[in-house]
Amino acid sequence: MDNSLGAGEGPQEDRAELWKSYNDKQSTRRTVRPLLSEAAELAGPGDGRVALELGCGAGIESVELARRGWQVMSIDYAPETVERVGAVITELDPQTRPAIHVQKLDLESPETGFPFADLIYSGYTLPYLHPATFPRVWRRLMEAMRPGGYLAVQLFGDRDSYVGQTDWNFHSRADTLELLQGLEIISFTEEDEDGMAAGGPKHWHVFHIIARRPSPDGEAENPGRR
Ligand SMILES: C[S@@+](CC[C@H](N)C(=O)[O-])C[C@H]1O[C@@H](n2cnc3c(N)ncnc32)[C@H](O)[C@@H]1O
Repeated sequence: MDNSLGAGEGPQEDRAELWKSYNDKQSTRRTVRPLLSEAAELAGPGDGRVALELGCGAGIESVELARRGWQVMSIDYAPETVERVGAVITELDPQTRPAIHVQKLDLESPETGFPFADLIYSGYTLPYLHPATFPRVWRRLMEAMRPGGYLAVQLFGDRDSYVGQTDWNFHSRADTLELLQGLEIISFTEEDEDGMAAGGPKHWHVFHIIARRPSPDGEAENPGRR
């Protein structure tokens, strides 16, 4: 996987610089993250529905969602995010320029709430929340999911090399499945293998999750559903 963070090697005060450097590198990425592509295919054309991206970084997945017709609300706390993603949008064809509302917000702030959304995507971001605040953010995410809405996220497992970083959260497989209670699990892939980070080799233990809040009538509501 290309999530070559090198995060975890630096102290807390280096995080802002770390994410800036990470997102600088990501901004030249030409491929959309597979989890987002898969979720977007499942959810079908956006047709003006609301998609929420948490930890949008360089904005590549936000732009892809907008391209697919979603009204995108993107959140990241990196100070340069609004300008960075704004610049990406400005470069796009004015005729088809997507509607993306980018906000600089800290997910861990008690004041940060989320709008109702039909698709919530968070790529390689939720694991970096403090274990004490993660439950609140997760609860708010669950509350923001519309019936029939999709969730596509990564969480770190308890065998990841970053375990020991006390301000990040990790979950066993059982705990992860518990978090998804009440949702229909559409795709649950457990990555548990050695790989690379910017700081060198590491073990990645990552749950790649796509889930859906059942509709009241239990029916699939959109044409993209397989
Ligand atoms: C590993 S990067 C992933 C970025 C992007 N989703 C991607 O896949 O390339 C994590 C992102 O989450 C953001 N982030 C981390 N903690 C956050 C928090 N508490 N609130 C908002 N954004 C946060 C960072 O600024 C960074 O852009």
